[in-house]
Amino acid sequence: MIIACPKCETRFHLEDAVPRKSTFVARCSICGHLFSAFRPVRVQPITFLDLERTRQSDVGDNVVAIGNRKGGVAKTTTCLNLGASLAICGKKVLLVDLDAQANLSICLGKQALPTFYDAYDAVDRPLDDFIVATAYTNLWLLPSGRNMVLLNKRYFGTRHFEFLLKDRLATLATRFDYILIDTPPSIEFSTLNALTAARRVIIPCQCDYLSTHGVDQVLKLIALVRRHANPRIESRVLLTMMDREMTASQMILSKIQNLYRGSCFETIIETDGQLKEAQILSMPAIHYCRQSTAGLQYMALAREVLTGVAQEALSPS
Ligand SMILES: Nc1ncnc2c1ncn2[C@@H]1O[C@H](COP(=O)(O)OP(=O)(O)OP(=O)(O)O)[C@@H](O)[C@H]1O
Ligand SMILES: [Mg+2]
Repeated sequence: MIIACPKCETRFHLEDAVPRKSTFVARCSICGHLFSAFRPVRVQPITFLDLERTRQSDVGDNVVAIGNRKGGVAKTTTCLNLGASLAICGKKVLLVDLDAQANLSICLGKQALPTFYDAYDAVDRPLDDFIVATAYTNLWLLPSGRNMVLLNKRYFGTRHFEFLLKDRLATLATRFDYILIDTPPSIEFSTLNALTAARRVIIPCQCDYLSTHGVDQVLKLIALVRRHANPRIESRVLLTMMDREMTASQMILSKIQNLYRGSCFETIIETDGQLKEAQILSMPAIHYCRQSTAGLQYMALAREVLTGVAQEALSPS
């Protein structure tokens, strides 16, 4: 680091580590002048767009992100219950909790465990080491915790930051039939990483007046990611927390189905008290009660996901 005395213009070479503060006072050893000096801030280039890298690798067909800019629309609930339903259908499922709130980990009773942040830091250990088994056959979890906020702080804007998750998940490609990623209600490191890693996005949309705004925002982000980082990404809207007794809920349902015609799942998830009871016991609804309305609807959603993927595999490209 080089600083210059503003009075006599003598230039001095300082070792980078010497001034620990970003602003400090220096005395010129030639003319004795006191002056303020500044440590230069090192800025890493922000590269969201990297076509060369995009061309090099394809996303895994089995990676599904669950996302919506709006909070409380059943992202976590969908991740947990769809994952549990796919697991019941005999598929090996990994749930990735990318939300620092760690609601998915809490819902499975897996708190205070090493997270993706720890896994990313531990370069000499495979991601496998951080995956934990759940109480349910075929269902595994990569937990989240409070330190996940540091991912955003440390890596947002660094070169290839949006590929960190995709790179690490690539090492697990053949171990799981499905990898479902729960994302936070915001557009930052985790959401961008999930959308870059995923072939499909499920956008839960609560049957409520303001929900479509969140869907529009995430659709815009998906369009951006499709252009710059993940050309094969596809999305579908899932209507959640539908209350058949409420006229408003019916009105909003038909509005949303019109707005996103052809891009909605046929399955609709209804509001269900048993799903809430299941959550208190850290259980997926279908494991809590075989007759749970929402639990059965998530089973139907799992079958819809499975047939959609199977049809796609059969159709010529
Ligand atoms: N089908 C349902 N029936 C009843 N309650 C539900 C249903 N789906 C979700 N909920 C409830 O709605 C609340 C929000 O759900 P959830 O935490 O899954 O939303 P989220 O989108 O993940 O929220 P956040 O944006 O904070 O991460 C929870 O209390 C959950 O129990
Ligand atoms: Mg959530």
